[in-house]
Amino acid sequence: MTRVVVLSGAGLSAESGLGTFRDAGGIWQKYDLEEVATPEGFARNPALVHEFYNARRANCLAARPNAAHHALAALQQRLGDRVTLVTQNIDDLLERAGAREVIHMHGQVMRAQCAHCGHRWDAPAVMDPSDPCPACEHPATRPDIVWFGEIPYHMDAIGAALAEAELFVAIGTSGSVYPAAGFVREAHINGARKLELNLEPSEGSALFDDTRLGPATEIVPLWVAEMLAAEG
Ligand code: APR
Repeated sequence: MTRVVVLSGAGLSAESGLGTFRDAGGIWQKYDLEEVATPEGFARNPALVHEFYNARRANCLAARPNAAHHALAALQQRLGDRVTLVTQNIDDLLERAGAREVIHMHGQVMRAQCAHCGHRWDAPAVMDPSDPCPACEHPATRPDIVWFGEIPYHMDAIGAALAEAELFVAIGTSGSVYPAAGFVREAHINGARKLELNLEPSEGSALFDDTRLGPATEIVPLWVAEMLAAEG
């Protein structure tokens, strides 16, 4: 009865047309992350930050889940709460593939929050700095995204899942941003097997027992099929 924790990154959604960050032509080569993905950048120029996330929200709305998203949803549907899906991605493609209770440790681009009162709600397609918060009416709305320098969400739940995991699988992540990049070590300490599914070796590949290289839409469905066959 294998308990699995799956950590996904931008590579899971790359074949759905959503950009990665550090590959050639990645998002951080087009935008200065200090300007669009930090609280300081938001304080300096909220309109620029909303413009950045409005564009990413539009890309997300136009995108469709790929075979890797569907495979992970099928794995969770079959194994239930023995599968914990943790993602660094802010898109909703796993949910749109049928996954439930996805742990978005970096937030969700389809959600908004109020920087004044903390209220959260489903984001409109286009957000603007002058939007009033639906709860306190302050014009302090921001995307419900965890920016650099902020504390990722759901770390307690992720730690609890890693403590129980017999298998830790990292999919489509460069392993360059903490705390997510440290989850493989936590899994190792807890005695879990560690598998990496990625297009190319990541910064943390040496920490995994096994690394399989290829596009997520090919190698993730193959891995899920193996898991479902083994679980009977
Ligand atoms: N299939 C599988 N893996 C892929 C594919 C693909 N089609 N395309 C790219 N990859 C891999 C790349 O080889 C790379 O290792 O996905 C990884 C993407 O790495 P990053 O661009 O660094 O994205 P990620 O690891 O998710 O970044 C982590 O950094 O900027 C922050 O908050 C942001 O959540 C993000 C975090």
